[in-house]
Amino acid sequence: MIPLLLLLLLLSVTPCSAQNAAADEITNLPGVTFNTNFKHYSGYLNGNMQGTWKLHYWLVESQGNAATDPLILWLNGGPGCSSVGGMFEELGPFYPERDGNSLYENVFSWNKVANVLFLESPIGVGFSYDTSNTSNVKTDDDTVAYQNYQALIDFFTNVQPAYANRTFYIAGESYSGIYLPTLARVLVQGINNESFPNKNFQGMAIGNGYMNVKYLTNSLVLWSNYHGLIALEDWEKIKTVCCNNQDVDKCDFSAHLNTTDNMNFNSDGSECGYYVYQTLTDQTPPWPANQDPYNFYQDCYDPLPTTSTSSPMINFIKGHPNIAATNPHGTASILWHDSTDSQRGNPCWSEDAVTIYLNKAEVQAALHINSSWQSTVGQWNDCSDPIYNSYTVIYTDTTPFFQHVINNVKTPNFRILVYNGDVDTICDYLGDSWHIRDLAISLNMTSKPRTSWSFRNQIAGYVQRYTANTSVTVDVLTVKGAGHFVPNDRPGPALQMIANFIGNVANYSTATGIIVTPQGPPTSSSTTTAPSGARAANSSFLLVAISAVLLKKLF
Ligand SMILES: *[C@@H]1O[C@H](CO)[C@@H](O)[C@H](O)[C@H]1NC(C)=O
Ligand SMILES: *[C@@H]1O[C@H](CO)[C@@H](O)[C@H](O)[C@H]1NC(C)=O
Ligand SMILES: *[C@@H]1O[C@H](CO)[C@@H](O)[C@H](O)[C@H]1NC(C)=O
Ligand SMILES: *[C@@H]1O[C@H](CO)[C@@H](O)[C@H](O)[C@H]1NC(C)=O
Ligand SMILES: *[C@@H]1O[C@H](CO)[C@@H](O)[C@H](O)[C@H]1NC(C)=O
Ligand SMILES: *[C@@H]1O[C@H](CO)[C@@H](O)[C@H](O)[C@H]1NC(C)=O
Ligand SMILES: *[C@@H]1O[C@H](CO)[C@@H](O)[C@H](O)[C@H]1NC(C)=O
Ligand SMILES: *[C@@H]1O[C@H](CO)[C@@H](O)[C@H](O)[C@H]1NC(C)=O
Ligand SMILES: *[C@@H]1O[C@H](CO)[C@@H](O)[C@H](O)[C@H]1NC(C)=O
Repeated sequence: MIPLLLLLLLLSVTPCSAQNAAADEITNLPGVTFNTNFKHYSGYLNGNMQGTWKLHYWLVESQGNAATDPLILWLNGGPGCSSVGGMFEELGPFYPERDGNSLYENVFSWNKVANVLFLESPIGVGFSYDTSNTSNVKTDDDTVAYQNYQALIDFFTNVQPAYANRTFYIAGESYSGIYLPTLARVLVQGINNESFPNKNFQGMAIGNGYMNVKYLTNSLVLWSNYHGLIALEDWEKIKTVCCNNQDVDKCDFSAHLNTTDNMNFNSDGSECGYYVYQTLTDQTPPWPANQDPYNFYQDCYDPLPTTSTSSPMINFIKGHPNIAATNPHGTASILWHDSTDSQRGNPCWSEDAVTIYLNKAEVQAALHINSSWQSTVGQWNDCSDPIYNSYTVIYTDTTPFFQHVINNVKTPNFRILVYNGDVDTICDYLGDSWHIRDLAISLNMTSKPRTSWSFRNQIAGYVQRYTANTSVTVDVLTVKGAGHFVPNDRPGPALQMIANFIGNVANYSTATGIIVTPQGPPTSSSTTTAPSGARAANSSFLLVAISAVLLKKLF
């Protein structure tokens, strides 16, 4: 028990941020080529009690009803990757043109239905930094959960108090499979002991999550075999030397791998380890050239077959988003018949385009980036290698966090969504399904049959609902054809999925209320436009893009 006087003293040293929402509003984001019919804010949240850990946030308000729609916190993984990167490359309203100069509209942005808070976490990522030690990059799962929790307190209490009672969800991807359950547990604790300012915590959505290291390793071996990566005779050998010819679905391949960081693996020197490692090197570092582990079916060209301005792909990129206007011959002119790439390269170059855009002085000025960040850190990166390389993974199995949340949360209709693009090899759907199946068994949850769900009358994936005796539901959902970056790979289905999740619509096939009509050109008061000459194709970005996509990050 803390004596009252000490408690008052502690409270009085807690810095009260002088910031307010108005000061953080972005009024003139450079390069926007469409009408932004929503408000957005960029600034800093305190990630510790001392106020020295500054976490950069970007709040993009809803295009629906900003005053009543829920808030979604979004966290990318890494560890060390930026959520603002995820905003530009996946689920936000602004997608960068390839030259990094202008921004076109993502009509499937999640802010169609929600207010989305992108938090660059932990300190050292993106524009977030430790003002007392800008080289502070050493962190771990508990420290990250603490920072995110503190930042949310500052957000609801001081920086955006209009959101103090708003229904909110926490969501993210990849290594956020650890960030989110650890944060959810402290949120439930803080709400139950009445110290957290907003009690309306309503759910958690985890995309291609790193939630169970052993399961993701074991499932990847099976995934690889059944996606044509292993020779028949090697598979027979693996079954013998790894599984003693027992049930291969229950075989613990991970027991034959060594790891020092719980993210990268090597053979333990045994015969099984040798074979399994050979298999996994198709999806884990060192990857073979020209295989994208984040989407098994995504190809990146290095360099593109042609950089001539008559290339259909270049035409597409230049013309986007007004394909019809700049391609008078219609769809046929944008097809690239000899390409194996269904996304016209976007995932291969978007990271570089974002990096160029966010390092422009005029962009940083519009985002209210602190001059002390500019003079000490000075470079925005999508992912921080120093953070990744010095990160300590504490939790290799997140089951206890799920159990705590499910057993203790008091919000009625609390929901969890575990979704997976089904062609990701970094965090595959099978291992994540096993993880939730075991959780359900441990809590004696009931299960409904797995059914398909659809987007525009096509199968979009499969979903299975588990329900706990506390009435908390956990939906395990696949997104057909998406890789690791679901909102980028399957934007329409991803938006429909999240809209139904936050809307508490159990049927994920429902499209009601989702409007994806493009905005018109910017009104003069809302934005500035890019200089018209700024869109020339620039092939020199591509080499960097190819190497960037092969980083080992759990984005
Ligand atoms: C700053 O952070 C770095 C990396 O985490 C650490 O090695 C160093 O000791 C810190 N410096 C101070 C003055 O705390
Ligand atoms: C939040 O709820 C509290 C308690 O009901 C109320 O005092 C406060 O004015 C509300 N804040 C907002 C921003 O609605
Ligand atoms: C309430 O829970 C939060 C989150 O776990 C914790 O940080 C805080 O110390 C707790 N407060 C009290 C008074 O127990
Ligand atoms: C793997 O780890 C085991 C146990 O620590 C050790 O005996 C073995 O030498 C390691 N193998 C390799 C190839 O590093
Ligand atoms: C901005 O930088 C100044 C030092 O120049 C520092 O005192 C202040 O805390 C910083 N504020 C934020 C929000 O980062
Ligand atoms: C719910 O199930 C859990 C795990 O099976 C059990 O510990 C708990 O007592 C049950 N709670 C209720 C209200 O039935
Ligand atoms: C598990 O759930 C079933 C059905 O809800 C119930 O009949 C049974 O008693 C539960 N078992 C335990 C151990 O809680
Ligand atoms: C789910 O919604 C779709 C689209 O509205 C509808 O066709 C389907 O019948 C619904 N399924 C169920 C089980 O209600
Ligand atoms: C292409 O990008 C490079 C690197 O940013 C730059 O140096 C060069 O001037 C650009 N070329 C054109 C034609 O824009």
